[in-house]
Amino acid sequence: MPDKKAKLTVEGHDLEFNVLSGTLGPDVIDVNPLAKSNYFTFDPGFLSTASCESKITFIDGDKGILLYRGYPIDQLATDSSFLEVCYLLLNGELPNSEQFAKFCKDVNRHTLVHEQIRNFFNGFRRDAHPMAIMVGVVGALSAFYHDTLDITNPEHRNISALRLIAKMPTIAAMCYKYSIGQPFMPPQNRMSYAENFLHMMFGTPCEETTPNPVLVKALDRIFILHADHEQNASTSTVRMAGSTGANPFACISAGIGALWGPAHGGANEAALNMLHEIGDVSQIGKFIARAKDPNDNFRLMGFGHRVYKNYDPRAKVMRETCHEVLDAVGAHDNPLFKIALQLEKIALEDEYFVQRKLYPNVDFYSGITLSAIGIPSNMFTVIFALARTIGWIAHWNEMMSQPYKLSRPRQLYTGPTERDYIGIKKRK
Ligand code: SDX
Repeated sequence: MPDKKAKLTVEGHDLEFNVLSGTLGPDVIDVNPLAKSNYFTFDPGFLSTASCESKITFIDGDKGILLYRGYPIDQLATDSSFLEVCYLLLNGELPNSEQFAKFCKDVNRHTLVHEQIRNFFNGFRRDAHPMAIMVGVVGALSAFYHDTLDITNPEHRNISALRLIAKMPTIAAMCYKYSIGQPFMPPQNRMSYAENFLHMMFGTPCEETTPNPVLVKALDRIFILHADHEQNASTSTVRMAGSTGANPFACISAGIGALWGPAHGGANEAALNMLHEIGDVSQIGKFIARAKDPNDNFRLMGFGHRVYKNYDPRAKVMRETCHEVLDAVGAHDNPLFKIALQLEKIALEDEYFVQRKLYPNVDFYSGITLSAIGIPSNMFTVIFALARTIGWIAHWNEMMSQPYKLSRPRQLYTGPTERDYIGIKKRK
């Protein structure tokens, strides 16, 4: 196949670029030769910019396709487990039973956090947003592992990945326990990943409790749905931080900070708050009108997506999971779920949303589901961060495993041209 080329003529100069093809998805124009010209590309928000080459996750926004290392998300959500998906995202292939047993054992060896970490929590108010604690505590993990921070060493990268996969649930549950004044619950390695998390969240030292298996399965599926999503804002933040040579814990902490925003991972908490604010199906029309009003910056939280312009395949699985959980906890007549179903129906028939291809995304139903499991809304994005850690680490490791360059975008400068300093006495 002859090499594909793209031509650009600027001020009489012909510039030629290579067009590169991936295994799936659109071709890309390699604009690297521009570095030798006097021009930059200009693409605020990176709507048309591929920042890297990756083999981890593929999304087709028009067809509503999401593949983790080639496997469709609905098959993984139905047939796999979160830890198996962690192995897949990190290593590129599904594990055989021996590899999986070793991986689970390796993760389990790192579920505890250093006892000193308990002291970090005491510096926070009890009502601190748990995402603020996560940013701080996860970033501080690098203070405990000086012996394995050589990012050029694959062994060090692997043990950092295991530590982060293993410790995120422990730290997340500690955030919740701290906020309600209950003792931290130690991880139970005999339990599965999601079961152990629910145990650390809702168990107490006073009695033996076993998490509801329906809720365990639902939470494991929620973790799978949130595990990775190619070059989203937080993953791009992790890659940007990683390109400076920062340690993995600092990079993940940067990703947690980026995920917190309501346009990104904070949307699940914002979507549930919006449903509470709507309060009754009779009020839906008022909120739809606000979402459509160009003078009102209100947006329907949980709707729309930069890439998905048909439907978010995760939202479909999330809606089914939501139904299962509501049935399991006897809340199938949950008024918020009724509002969500009605809001989805109305929005999908409204020209404004249809024309702009705005569909429910993964965050629309996850809030109701997590709330039905008993998780408070300020912990929703923490759950998202817990699950997305494997995606962040997989992308960070992919970048570190091959030659990479420091990420340093340029700009279109429209500020003042050069001018001389004027002493304050001479200023008007
Ligand atoms: C996640 O990138 C990822 O992969 C993210 C994620 C992941 O797994 O990592 O999938 C997770 O972050 C999902 C998205 C969660 N965010 C929300 O649910 C917040 C609500 N959604 C919007 O903020 C918005 O849809 C974005 C930010 C998600 C996407 O916005 P874009 O692609 O930048 O599109 P845009 O803002 O340019 O909107 C295009 C038009 C505008 O109208 P016009 O100016 O053309 O008239 O659509 C409108 C917007 O006003 N619009 C909405 C809307 N989202 C877009 N109008 C009402 N409600 C909305 N939710």
